[in-house]
Amino acid sequence: MPEYCDLILKNVSTPAGLVRDISIKNGLVAHSGSSGRAERTIDCKGLYCLPGAIDMHVHMRGGKEQSSKETWKTGTMSALAGGVTHVVDQPNCIPAIKDASTFESRLKEAKSQAYCNFSINAGVMKGADLSGMHRAGAMAFGEIFAAPSSYGEGVPPEYLRSAFLEIEKSGCLATVHAETVLEGTDDSLDAHNCLRPVSGEAEAVSNIMEMAPDDLRLHFCHLSSFESADLVSGRHTFEVMPHHLLLSTDMFDAKDTFARVNPPVRDDATRKKLWRMWDKIDVLASDHAPHTVSEKSADFSSAPSGIPGVETMVPLFLALVYQKKISLESLIAKTTINPARILHINCAGYEPGMRGDFAIYPKRSEKVDPGRLHSLAGWTPYGGMEGVFPDKTILRGEVVYSDGDFLKGSPEWIPGEGYI
Ligand code: NCD
Repeated sequence: MPEYCDLILKNVSTPAGLVRDISIKNGLVAHSGSSGRAERTIDCKGLYCLPGAIDMHVHMRGGKEQSSKETWKTGTMSALAGGVTHVVDQPNCIPAIKDASTFESRLKEAKSQAYCNFSINAGVMKGADLSGMHRAGAMAFGEIFAAPSSYGEGVPPEYLRSAFLEIEKSGCLATVHAETVLEGTDDSLDAHNCLRPVSGEAEAVSNIMEMAPDDLRLHFCHLSSFESADLVSGRHTFEVMPHHLLLSTDMFDAKDTFARVNPPVRDDATRKKLWRMWDKIDVLASDHAPHTVSEKSADFSSAPSGIPGVETMVPLFLALVYQKKISLESLIAKTTINPARILHINCAGYEPGMRGDFAIYPKRSEKVDPGRLHSLAGWTPYGGMEGVFPDKTILRGEVVYSDGDFLKGSPEWIPGEGYI
């Protein structure tokens, strides 16, 4: 008979077609199959109960200068309301994470505000103390800007080569923003697309793979085209973002800054071709990059690049599962199992020992309503599209989100393997 637990999720239908009761104790799945007794029981009959997703590419902003865009509190609430229970923050915040001391202040801010589990990546730029951040608990290095983007200058190839050698020695993961940026006037979505072309992304991916030492664990961020993704080979992995699979330039006015992002939203033919890669895509991540409406209302050439998306990622793709366009297994693999494998961490799941983080979804989709999202950014390009949002999200066996209400549970910082 299972011991007394914190929570039992009854009648959970797993993607393998089994119906089980999942008991959670001390943050982990304790039993799966038979039911015992617990503080609280939730009946999942007629609902979908999915393992909490890991979004391994988010920009939580925060700090003195960027808290009007997003804070750790609003960003992680937004994550929970979209079924994401673990976010991995990127280091191009202000101040940038470049040594143990900037890492530790970021960690302090995250620990005091976060509503979901979190990790923090280390910045890679000239003068950065890579080993110091590794020991301080960085989850991965990067995104490393091999081309400039919002708050990140491109790093010179000779520095990248030496940084790769140091990261290889540490055994940590290197995640790279691979693009080539051409000179020209960046004053429309088409111009943005031409100045950061598919061919340049593919060229950057090839160059970086050639430069990478043999034992480097290398992961490519936000690949936007079939051509680039098709080049990734061997042990290397890559992620794709919802906006490159679901949005195309023809859906926006030529000067619409809200679709301005790096790498750019492509034309419809490029978007469709990227779908041919679905089975090969390792990770679906959001690149949640909140900028405010007033910042995005600037002239195209001066508006910041980036799209918020941590709350809509799983809902938009779960709607595609309901429409039978993708399988539930593939969605769980790309948002939970593969990110965990790549990051060398435990993930949520139905088996004993896995994390007790889940999101419970209704069996119907609804239209994405921008007014109901929680990011401080306050806008989304996905308004009106079909999405399936969780009714409840569970973190470490505790209900931390329920029908629009949040509870500050016991979120955990998940450090990288170098943490001492
Ligand atoms: C990101 C941001 O705003 O921080 N913007 C973006 O367009 N993707 C930076 C990045 O991931 O390149």
